Amino acid sequence: MNVVVTGGAGFIGSHTVDALIARGDRVVVLDDFRTGKRANLAQHAGTDRLTIVECDVSHGIFAALAGLSIDRIVHLAAQVSVVSSVANPLVDMSVNYGGTLHVLEYAKAMGVKKVVFASSAAVYGDVPPALIPVHEDAPRAPLSPYGIDKYASELALDYYAAVHGVPTTWFRFFNVYGERQDPSSPYSGVISIFADRARRGAPLTIFGDGSQTRDFVYVGDVVRAVLAGLADGNSRVVANVGTGAEITVRGLAELIVSLCGGTSEIAHAAARSGEIAKSCAAVDRLRDAFGVVAQMPLADGLRRTLAI
Ligand code: NAD
Ligand code: UD1
Repeated sequence: MNVVVTGGAGFIGSHTVDALIARGDRVVVLDDFRTGKRANLAQHAGTDRLTIVECDVSHGIFAALAGLSIDRIVHLAAQVSVVSSVANPLVDMSVNYGGTLHVLEYAKAMGVKKVVFASSAAVYGDVPPALIPVHEDAPRAPLSPYGIDKYASELALDYYAAVHGVPTTWFRFFNVYGERQDPSSPYSGVISIFADRARRGAPLTIFGDGSQTRDFVYVGDVVRAVLAGLADGNSRVVANVGTGAEITVRGLAELIVSLCGGTSEIAHAAARSGEIAKSCAAVDRLRDAFGVVAQMPLADGLRRTLAI
């Protein structure tokens, strides 16, 4: 396959590129490097199967991809922080919804055979406890501009498939973690922040009382879902990508501290706005439609992330 990976220099993107190149595909990474890094792709230096194109996905992708042969797209480029989207909703809309529309217009014009999109558990908003683990057909009630733009993107993917014949599949990733997740921003993923601090013996800060839950899924399991989505079939199909198990943020902090030898203190600060109380995926559709089951136990994935 000839695959464009938008956001391919980022955390999930660079692992996706590794897997595509390992199975023999040709890959074009389209990234503007606002959070992604060339170092995440350094292991492919010298291969003629990777092309890197520096471009903002919400401006000028036709020109950036001109002359390249593309048959499938993995669309991962996005502003990824829920908190940033609350502070800057116009940026989120332009990159996250606008970027998806640019990708879909390109796919329509070029006759692309499959677009796979990274949506999010954030589209569900606060799910009533009776509906946990949350199934794909549960009501979509996003609590943040990020969740709204991901849901709007899903509707656009469905529309381009139904009306313009562009095959599309999208996944609602739950909380993804693993090697190369960048801890440098206060809005980075919680495991990257906790791991970075616990390794140094620095204190961990929990927002709120720590009773909120998340379903943490290892990046290698997420990549297997993305590759399954790139195959023919399953157009206009959405599936959650999670483990089906939830852990409180408090439990997560204690686990990471104990894996690191137990020296970090755990502090508390005010809860974030737009915060979801409980999050856990129903995973039967991922298994039945795509043949993928998340395999990495949390403690093992954390050891890999912590490199211990
Ligand atoms: P990341 O920040 O590491 O990767 C995002 C990549 O997109 C970066 O390389 C960045 O430079 C690039 N990018 C951002 N805006 C761009 C633009 N306008 N044009 C071109 N490139 C741009 O984040 P990630 O965790 O790897 O997230 C990848 C995707 O998965 C995103 O769509 C995110 O919303 C989605 N997702 C992530 C999680 C998670 O827990 N990490 C969960 C649900 C969904
Ligand atoms: C994350 C992803 C988002 C994705 C969503 C899917 C990131 C940055 N965000 O959002 O892209 O769509 O999962 O479920 O990858 N927390 C602390 N202390 C910290 C940092 C965070 O207590 O230092 C708490 C937060 O308040 C939250 C939980 O940890 O309750 C997870 O936070 P975070 O990793 O930012 O992710 P989500 O907001 O769940």
